[in-house]
Amino acid sequence: MATALKVGVAGLGTVGAVLVAQVARQREALTARCGRAIEIVAVCARSRTKERGIDLKKMKWFADPVALARDPGIDVFVELIGGAGNPAKGAVEAALASGKSVVTANKALLARHGVKLAALAESKHVALNFEAAVGAAIPIVKTLREGMAGNSFDRIYGILNGTCNYILTRMEQDKMSFAECLKEAQRLGYAEADPSFDIDGHDTAQKLAILASLAFGTKVDQSAIYVEGISSITPADLSAADELGYRVKLLGVAVKTPKGIEQRVHPTMVRKDSAIAQVMGVTNAVTIDATDINPLTLVGPGAGGAATASAVLSDIGDIARGVRTAPFGRPTARLVSVRKAPMQRHEGGYYIRLVARDKPGTAATIAKRLAEQDISLESIVQRHDPAHLGRDTKAGSVPVILITYATSEDAVRKALAAVGRDRVISGRPQVIRIEKN
Ligand code: HSE
Repeated sequence: MATALKVGVAGLGTVGAVLVAQVARQREALTARCGRAIEIVAVCARSRTKERGIDLKKMKWFADPVALARDPGIDVFVELIGGAGNPAKGAVEAALASGKSVVTANKALLARHGVKLAALAESKHVALNFEAAVGAAIPIVKTLREGMAGNSFDRIYGILNGTCNYILTRMEQDKMSFAECLKEAQRLGYAEADPSFDIDGHDTAQKLAILASLAFGTKVDQSAIYVEGISSITPADLSAADELGYRVKLLGVAVKTPKGIEQRVHPTMVRKDSAIAQVMGVTNAVTIDATDINPLTLVGPGAGGAATASAVLSDIGDIARGVRTAPFGRPTARLVSVRKAPMQRHEGGYYIRLVARDKPGTAATIAKRLAEQDISLESIVQRHDPAHLGRDTKAGSVPVILITYATSEDAVRKALAAVGRDRVISGRPQVIRIEKN
């Protein structure tokens, strides 16, 4: 039997503690599956005395993650610290530079420095594995990189943030406000320390940047992503979507277009009968549209200690077996810069909710401005029952919901700017893009 793989773990929060417990509990099965034992021999965390329910007595203790990363006693450095900067970045660089394979769950680090770190790993002939960085227990990284290595991809889209999906689900099912649902998600421990990171779409964008690179062979580039969060979504939008046969989800979408790769994160209307629309609560899902095969959707827990540790352990298992794959599926020299398709040129259907003045000529004015931009309407709903389509509606105004046929982002923005100048609406129009699925 080969010698045991010696692992050092930096970060003993929820994920690190579950990982240590899992390695102990699964010792025999892991040895049988990997052909050698996996041993956590060293750990590093902020507090040595904190009670974590795990036995650390036989492990070497480090206060400094960089010192752990350089320790000659380990073969693999597991980074569970988080954040794009130091100490996570310095420790990962130190581990790779000293010839150790790295396993990380750190989406922020990969979205910002993924290509550089992959190049360093490549030059040292070691692995840089990050299955846990996107969708936790969902094996989406391996699916794109290995399971579908022979496919070419047209579009990848997914629910990549459990907090947002939880909030939208509760708002829809229990008619609760955005603020109430966010508080609940925080209480349940789903949200990031700074919840704006979840609800403004940045967490989804980091994960999407990684998936887009794996799918399209591009350099990871978070700055190429158009990002909108969910804080403007109201129960009125969710009720209207429901009536029209849709659900609203925060999606990350990467799609190949003739103008380049479009990467966007925004609230999205999806048909209620689609696979992605069935995904409720904190669960994550990714749909893969590969050329010549029907779309496939992977669904599962996208956050939490056990789900994240499951992916980390699978990455460690690959290293134990001697499996090493280019981190982003091909050598870094072959990753191309993203040719970014501008958002203004995005094409698709749109949901538009306006609060219109209840006066003769208003509908005609709105219709004229849309026609000027060649926007054709699939449906138009106007209701005087404010409980139905907009509780916030003032006296003398009426909610109007428009669903357009495919048009461009530019046309919609120009038409709505003109409607605004016409003074026939109050407040800002609500615009939600519709994703075909
Ligand atoms: N805050 C994230 C979520 C955790 O809600 O999905 C996993 O990245």
